[in-house]
Amino acid sequence: MQTCERLSITVLVDNYIDMLMQNTPGIRRQGMAEHFLPRRGTPLAENGISFLIRATTAGRTTTILFDAGMSGIPIIHNAAVLGIDLAEVDQVVLSHGHPDHFGGIYAALGVIGRKVPLIVHPSAFHPRSIRRPDLMIQYFNRDLTEAELIAAGAGIVAVREPLEIAPGITTSGEIPITVDFEREVPTGRMSIRDGHVHPDPIDDYLTVIVDVDGVGLVVLDPCGHSGVLSSLDHAMRLTGADRVHGVLGGFHLGHAGITQEKIERTVEGLVARDLSLVSPMHCSGFRAQRAVAEAMPEAFALMTAGAELTIEKPRDHEPAKK
Ligand SMILES: [Fe+2]
Ligand SMILES: [Fe+2]
Repeated sequence: MQTCERLSITVLVDNYIDMLMQNTPGIRRQGMAEHFLPRRGTPLAENGISFLIRATTAGRTTTILFDAGMSGIPIIHNAAVLGIDLAEVDQVVLSHGHPDHFGGIYAALGVIGRKVPLIVHPSAFHPRSIRRPDLMIQYFNRDLTEAELIAAGAGIVAVREPLEIAPGITTSGEIPITVDFEREVPTGRMSIRDGHVHPDPIDDYLTVIVDVDGVGLVVLDPCGHSGVLSSLDHAMRLTGADRVHGVLGGFHLGHAGITQEKIERTVEGLVARDLSLVSPMHCSGFRAQRAVAEAMPEAFALMTAGAELTIEKPRDHEPAKK
């Protein structure tokens, strides 16, 4: 896999917005000036996530939109507030067929305004339902259809395998859950395939892996459906790297029924993997955020809507960052 020399990741959508947070090394946030005197408006938050990834190699930048939030409102509003023209997007990636990740895609494609490749796993289009004694929701991904995506300007690239989509950037393909305690049996989540109803394996779930020259891997894991540790281990196997520099995304530990033990074992796993940057967002939940902040204070970084992370290849005289 190639590397990129400069990576910038802007959070277009997240569950949280905090205008009072300060800038920290490598992370620029919307701050006090906008809080008191909003010139362009302040970012909005919603249940969902969307990243704008810009990777530069040899003076050329590739811009990738990874997920689009839920309603389509914050992604458009926040891009405008941040001074981002979504027409610069070269490629779109959808992590999986859940509405908090694909819901805003039609609004985003409308602003992009031309045909762009859209990478997605084919299983994202299977009808999904929730069937529990207390809750019955049929076909909650009904708005994600190939026909509507194509009509909105997407050139669908349906792949199960990893795909190198730009220098230094690859999609993960299917991620095996290799860490035992991350094997969660989702109760009541069903997928309809070949006319039959099955427990939903969420096998469409994929991450984006970026390799920054001299720094290492950065993994964007938007909803944690394969377990964040299994996703990190998959990224290392895929690239041959022996460690991951950073991970950002939803770690899927905020739900009812997630035990404190699972959170603690996850954080132990993150500590053992010696990450330099850990940003629990979206569906990570407060307990996991707190646990990471306490166990890894140097690595912990809270990214909310409007935050931008920049990672660059160290200059020749600088030692490579750990
Ligand atoms: Fe999800
Ligand atoms: Fe999610």
